[in-house]
Amino acid sequence: ASVGVIVVAAGSGSRLGRPEPKAFVEIGGRSILSRSMDAVRGMSEEAALVVVVPAALVSAASAQLDELRMPAVVVAGGDTRQRSVAAGLEVLPPEVEVVLVHDAARVFTPPDVFDRVVAAVRDLGHGVIPGLPVTDTIKGVAGDGTVRDTIDRSKLTAVQTPQGFPRTHLVEAYALAAADFTDDAALVREAGHPVGVVAGSALAFKITTADDLERAEDVLRRQGS
Ligand code: C5P
Repeated sequence: ASVGVIVVAAGSGSRLGRPEPKAFVEIGGRSILSRSMDAVRGMSEEAALVVVVPAALVSAASAQLDELRMPAVVVAGGDTRQRSVAAGLEVLPPEVEVVLVHDAARVFTPPDVFDRVVAAVRDLGHGVIPGLPVTDTIKGVAGDGTVRDTIDRSKLTAVQTPQGFPRTHLVEAYALAAADFTDDAALVREAGHPVGVVAGSALAFKITTADDLERAEDVLRRQGS
């Protein structure tokens, strides 16, 4: 089955506190969008690539991808992540059977996480998401601000991207989607399909706040790139 990767990069990044949309914020002289392509390029098999960006930046993003010599279909996203993924699904080439959906904001996701997700989707025949064990103690809090209970963290996983699915499952889930969800696995579960978990990576952290951007600069310094 051939693989397609939808990279969503259409968020405004308002929590980052920068004027430009998040995908165009630079880390060490290269944009988040451009850096997020390194993992896709590092995959062990070639994937059909769809990149979803803010409408005003479709041509700027295409220029960056050309510079990287990465053939991609670039489309405008929507006002929620879910709508942006839906826009990407619309333009996926017909031969794609396994779809990975990835947040550009997880810039340093290692390529082996992509390969692991693809292999597990093929093996299991259903969706697979990368996750990490939760190390903090997590508590439920009541409306009045007092602690209600402690949630057994051995039953929790902190979820990342790329999230991979048989194309049929993802297309069906998006066709049925009623509410807005923050990840694709939630929609696919809602449509009645199982979703498995494989090992994620600490490097797959999402750049959301200015602190995350500093952490990203630190990663670069340590990598010497
Ligand atoms: O909002 P958050 O940072 O969690 O978004 C995760 C990913 O979804 C980011 O890569 C962002 O660019 C993308 N996104 C999108 N369209 C939106 C909102 C977010 O493509 N409307």
